[in-house]
Amino acid sequence: MLDILALEKSFILNHIKEGDTVADFTMGNGYDTLFLSKTVGENGRVYAFDIQQSALISTEKRLKEKNAPKNYTLICDSHHNAREYIKTPIKAGMFNLGYLPGGDKSITTKRETTLSAIETAISLLDKDAILLIAVYPGHEEGEIEGELINELLEKFDRKQYCCAKFRIINSPTSSYFYIVESK
Ligand SMILES: C[S@@+](CC[C@H](N)C(=O)[O-])C[C@H]1O[C@@H](n2cnc3c(N)ncnc32)[C@H](O)[C@@H]1O
Repeated sequence: MLDILALEKSFILNHIKEGDTVADFTMGNGYDTLFLSKTVGENGRVYAFDIQQSALISTEKRLKEKNAPKNYTLICDSHHNAREYIKTPIKAGMFNLGYLPGGDKSITTKRETTLSAIETAISLLDKDAILLIAVYPGHEEGEIEGELINELLEKFDRKQYCCAKFRIINSPTSSYFYIVESK
């Protein structure tokens, strides 16, 4: 059976290597930050964002427990402000939209800031880089976010970016994802 998470990681791994600069735009409990940190290694850099201080605490704990290299910058701010912190192009960016599993469901990503953050993230992409956006349509805001992201990405010039969507069509509430690959 299709494993969406494994598929997401395989796309990212096709684009990043030791020493690269990458971003986790929705840090949460730090699983993606840990994956990125270990993949880019000591000489790489991971910028990770969340608006909840509790996410930074939980992520820092996970990174230390799992002996991640000290290559990360954890930022308590909204991802749409990423340009204030990231000054070099990134080889990969990840958005895992929605709310923190086990946390306050009212603190979820919201369409206005999500769309602005995705545009910022695309503008930060290096050549031959990837942005991955995981959408959770099982809650109302998630479903709308997904539709608006689709509208945004379908307008990008195919000569500069390849924008694609991966969805299990007979499981409408399962998470799905978009990728944006720069040429
Ligand atoms: C589904 S969780 C992310 C899971 C995470 N990637 C992991 O590995 O555990 C979504 C996260 O996005 C965060 N979030 C919501 N709005 C945000 C914003 N404007 N900027 C950055 N993070 C935001 C939430 O606080 C929540 O922790």
